[in-house]
Amino acid sequence: MIVLGIETSCDETGVALYNTAPWEEGTPASQGILGQGLHSQIAMHRDYGGVVPELASRDHIRRVLPLLDQSLAQSGLQLADIDAVAFTQGPGLAGALLVGSAFAKSLAQGLNLPSIGVHHLEGHLLSPLLGQTAPQFPFIALLVSGGHTQLMKVSGIGQYELLGESLDDAAGEAFDKTAKLLGLDYPGGAAISKLAEQGRPGIFDLPKPMLHSGDLDFSFSGLKTAVLNQMKKFEEKKIADAVQIAQCHADLARGFVDAIVTVLVSKSEKALKQSGCKHLVLAGGVGANLQLRAALNEKANRNGFAVHYPPLELCTDNGVMIAFAGALRLLEKNNGSTHSGAFDVKPRWDLQSNNLK
Ligand code: KG4
Ligand code: ZN
Repeated sequence: MIVLGIETSCDETGVALYNTAPWEEGTPASQGILGQGLHSQIAMHRDYGGVVPELASRDHIRRVLPLLDQSLAQSGLQLADIDAVAFTQGPGLAGALLVGSAFAKSLAQGLNLPSIGVHHLEGHLLSPLLGQTAPQFPFIALLVSGGHTQLMKVSGIGQYELLGESLDDAAGEAFDKTAKLLGLDYPGGAAISKLAEQGRPGIFDLPKPMLHSGDLDFSFSGLKTAVLNQMKKFEEKKIADAVQIAQCHADLARGFVDAIVTVLVSKSEKALKQSGCKHLVLAGGVGANLQLRAALNEKANRNGFAVHYPPLELCTDNGVMIAFAGALRLLEKNNGSTHSGAFDVKPRWDLQSNNLK
């Protein structure tokens, strides 16, 4: 079965074609990726310091058709070869989601194909199955994106249990807001991580929120305030030397990354222990963070569990993960696919409410 996937939930337009044959035959799932196209709107939103929803929707409209053509050309397929259309139905920006939904549903109806609305986070958390060493069910997923920070127990396709989540800012949001304080461009996750490499450990010992809370929840909004307070203290010293200022920013970036990584790793280990699972999956944009990956690898080696990552380019939003998640759902019974033409989207959507029965 060949599934077309469309992702338009935020500021990336992603289109991909996925063939389920390798998955069904037990060969590496990544071999099913036949073609893909991706356009990031980051440059367009950068001047505004964040995503402007209306601009995002309009750009998705402009990009989605050329990206479909690109994916078809890359795969050597034609529209007639497609068996189903998967699209991100939520959560995300309402207008942006509507573009993908309208496009996917119209195409499906025109070609008389089933369509399936995919939960964006399901796309993220199944994407490690496309990595070099696929995890086995059940596993724990640490989902860290711009909008979500969650620990999930994944018992199978469509079998998700929320174990803990952020009570305020998501990890990616904390990265982006702190990066802004440090004068870095939006979205600052990757930039702050790079800056932290030049920072010295322990110069700023920032709080590690909820590290010992006893549960699996997170809170990251206080971290950016702690960084802001440290910056104010440094500014009071009226140091004009550019090298010293740059070093202070790098040390703060290092303190910030170390704090967030410590909390994420500690709670992930706790979730593994509580559930008895031996496999951890890292997914979502912050999953591209090299410090987090290094810390998880080190703990995994030491404490006898396995960590699985999506291919680096599939950590941030893309069409492949939507085609893949849609395809796996379509292989299951009662999968939620439809022939209806309604363009309903779910800007707020609880993943567990979409579990397969
Ligand atoms: O999953 P994603 O592409 O979009 C959402 O669904 O939100 O995640 C985007 C987030 C942004 O906050 C971005 O700053 C963060 O992922 N991010 C990173 C890195 N690369 C992207 N955060 C830390 N380190 C990185 N290398
Ligand atoms: Zn995402």
